[in-house]
Amino acid sequence: MNHTYYQDDIVEKVRSSSDIVEVIGRYVKLQKKGSSYFGLCPFHNEKSPSFSVSQQKQMYYCFGCQAGGNVFTFLMEYENLSFPEAIKMLAERAGIELPEVEYSEEAKRAKDRRSKLMEVNREAAKYFYYQLRSPQGQKGLDYFRSRQLTEETMKQFGLGFSNVTSDDLVKYLKSKGYEDDLIMEAGLASFDERYGFHDKFWNRVMFPIQDVSNKVIGFGGRVMGDGKPKYLNSPETPIFDKSRNLYGLNFARSSRSKYVILCEGYMDVIAMHQAGFNMAVASLGTAFTAGQANLLRRYAEEVILAYDSDEAGTKAALRAIEILNEVDLPGRVLSLEPFKDPDEFIKNRGKDAFLERINSARNSFFFELDVLSRNYDLEDPESKTRFHKEIAKKICSFNEEVKRDNYIEAVCDKYGIGPEALRKLISSYAMKTGDATPVERPRSGIVSKNAEGEGKKNVQRLFLTWMAEEPRLYAAVKKYVSPDDFTEEIFRKVATELFRQIDDDCINPAAIISMFGDEESQRSAASVFNARLESVNSRQEKEKAFHDILYSLKKNSYDYYSSKLGSDVDALKQVIDGKKALEEINKIHITLEED
Ligand code: GTP
Ligand code: MN
Repeated sequence: MNHTYYQDDIVEKVRSSSDIVEVIGRYVKLQKKGSSYFGLCPFHNEKSPSFSVSQQKQMYYCFGCQAGGNVFTFLMEYENLSFPEAIKMLAERAGIELPEVEYSEEAKRAKDRRSKLMEVNREAAKYFYYQLRSPQGQKGLDYFRSRQLTEETMKQFGLGFSNVTSDDLVKYLKSKGYEDDLIMEAGLASFDERYGFHDKFWNRVMFPIQDVSNKVIGFGGRVMGDGKPKYLNSPETPIFDKSRNLYGLNFARSSRSKYVILCEGYMDVIAMHQAGFNMAVASLGTAFTAGQANLLRRYAEEVILAYDSDEAGTKAALRAIEILNEVDLPGRVLSLEPFKDPDEFIKNRGKDAFLERINSARNSFFFELDVLSRNYDLEDPESKTRFHKEIAKKICSFNEEVKRDNYIEAVCDKYGIGPEALRKLISSYAMKTGDATPVERPRSGIVSKNAEGEGKKNVQRLFLTWMAEEPRLYAAVKKYVSPDDFTEEIFRKVATELFRQIDDDCINPAAIISMFGDEESQRSAASVFNARLESVNSRQEKEKAFHDILYSLKKNSYDYYSSKLGSDVDALKQVIDGKKALEEINKIHITLEED
């Protein structure tokens, strides 16, 4: 229906031949409890199982981190596959032959373009690589040697050199048959009045940037010496998404270490790998993002931050900790003092000393407190009190009691605070904010800017959840509600299909999810079936709750179409029908049948 690769019936055939319990069971140890299977969630760190798999619904859901979806979503998230790749993988296992891919013209063009971009990048990497090992690359080779890189390391990372001549790469690529606009789109060339069409990188040592499957997707180039800018990076392109890739992850992913080391520089990653720390990665000349944190969650249980020890590095580390907290990935911070970065530390102190620093890396919470304490004068009682209040506020944000207790104990020891006094501060802070557990943190950088809009979305989702859980209700509300009442595109599609399934008496949530090709939409669609209806006690309360939702759904839709009057020809009918429906809904009573 919506995806450009395979027909719906094929997608459904593959899905229904791949039992979700069996597929997930290959990755996660599952135990049957009641009608569901439970295990430790692979998408966030946890000690007791809150990850559930339902054989009946053919879906999974984590009560801890709200990850959820069908068998395709699972593979997309866990194995970092695209939707068609997940289909292919399962088809192969199930012995289903897939038809020749039927690309839409547009999808075909995009796919061809991507593989062309990969190709031209690989060709450029090869060119830089040979330059480094030819006479005109001597300067680059000397530079890398002066930074104590071995031949083997240079080879492993595919390091290269871009010539002083400012158009030789362009000439070379053109001689291989690549067109100007492709070279340009790959970010390998620029155009300006003075120099015309010329190489983006020249007279720099080159670091090819690879994705997890070792494909070159971009470059970083460093000046030799003190020129500016020190590092020049490829721009973002259709294949180079700086917020979803990490330098060195192609090697780190198979290190089998429980932690990854996250740092800022390419040279730092290389120096660490050379010293045997093959779990080191770096962001790509930009700040660490939630997308990268989610990526790391697949490969590690913990992140050791090895950011520069200067002020900028400290600030970046604090921000990175926030992001790690968002995705529930524990972090520790490594001290490089008195050196600036991992590369310099290892050069001066060696790998054993570095390993000691890893082992003694501080819990990220204490690192935050330590940085925070610098703003206060702990000799001054006023200032000290304010500091303690800040600590209370931070501890308040932990939602597990055990965790709060453990931190209270540790903090009191460290800063010489009386535990009772700190507890009092925490409860008075909790009282002010209403509850000791804070509102849910936004996940994966998705921050809702518009609470009202969120509320409307929620009503639409909740209504659909009711329909999925109590399909018998549909008959009673059918005459008031249609898919057009769902102003969110995803929910409109879900409604269309779900209503059809209810009519045909064949509810199939997992099939609805695979109508969507991308992970984000799949997750939204899955949220309909994963949400739990509030545990309202009596039947009466339940009926009232549902009635309220029905009314809100219709009212929001009525408001929406009213605002479109004049610009949308169909709006008038929606408004008139909507008004009538609202009046009727006001009068009716919906009865839930007893089971
Ligand atoms: P070396 O001096 O080669 O050891 O550099 P470094 O690895 O210690 O890097 P530094 O701490 O200076 O910077 C860390 C990272 O930030 C680099 O690896 C680059 O990705 C990025 N970066 C540094 N300088 C620049 C710059 O001038 N422009 C851009 N776009 N990125 C930079
Ligand atoms: Mn450095």
